[in-house]
Amino acid sequence: MFESSQRPREYLWAYSKLPKPPLKVLDIGCGRSNGESGIEDFAKFLCEQGYDVTGIDIKPISWRHENFTFRHESITNNSLPSETFDVVVSFQVWHHVGMGYQLGVPKECQERCANGHIIFLNEVHRVLKTNGVAIITTVIEPSLRRDDTRQFTRETAHNLVVQKGFEVLHEEAITTPNYTLFLLHLRKKESNHG
Ligand SMILES: C[S@@+](CC[C@H](N)C(=O)[O-])C[C@H]1O[C@@H](n2cnc3c(N)ncnc32)[C@H](O)[C@@H]1O
Repeated sequence: MFESSQRPREYLWAYSKLPKPPLKVLDIGCGRSNGESGIEDFAKFLCEQGYDVTGIDIKPISWRHENFTFRHESITNNSLPSETFDVVVSFQVWHHVGMGYQLGVPKECQERCANGHIIFLNEVHRVLKTNGVAIITTVIEPSLRRDDTRQFTRETAHNLVVQKGFEVLHEEAITTPNYTLFLLHLRKKESNHG
């Protein structure tokens, strides 16, 4: 079972990279799979800081905020406008996209899509303004195979984002006993070469 205590570290890393508000931010997979207590949702925190935040998730969420718009959709099949967001954030979602079963996600919301991880990157690229920033964290090299987790390595994850038209500004790996977490700070280049 993956422990998820890296969240505060990921959120702090991401927040340190964010340009200051007012900005339009998209949080892909803004829900919570494990109902962790004591950690505020990152999207909610950004709303409180004055960002204009849109969240998208395949499962419903319960909180609301005047700076927050929620879309109950999959990133693989969404109605988000193109070239709209200054920043996209997505924490521990990329490796789950299109994998079907996922812990904590209601059965009726689960989705199978073989190239979900590619569509995810194309969508991040499409919705970002040119020079917009993306902060994506993903599990790589899990020690246990799990059906809901795509098997990325650091190299495959890095190469995919470069291939899809992002410049890597920073990247960092955090190793835990069960997996490595890969943190990517990206900038959208002019055109998508994917
Ligand atoms: C491991 S949780 C991470 C949640 C949150 N980002 C966090 O920091 O705790 C993965 C989230 O991604 C969502 N998700 C999975 N596939 C998705 C998809 N195709 N489109 C949108 N959200 C998705 C799940 O419903 C779940 O809320």
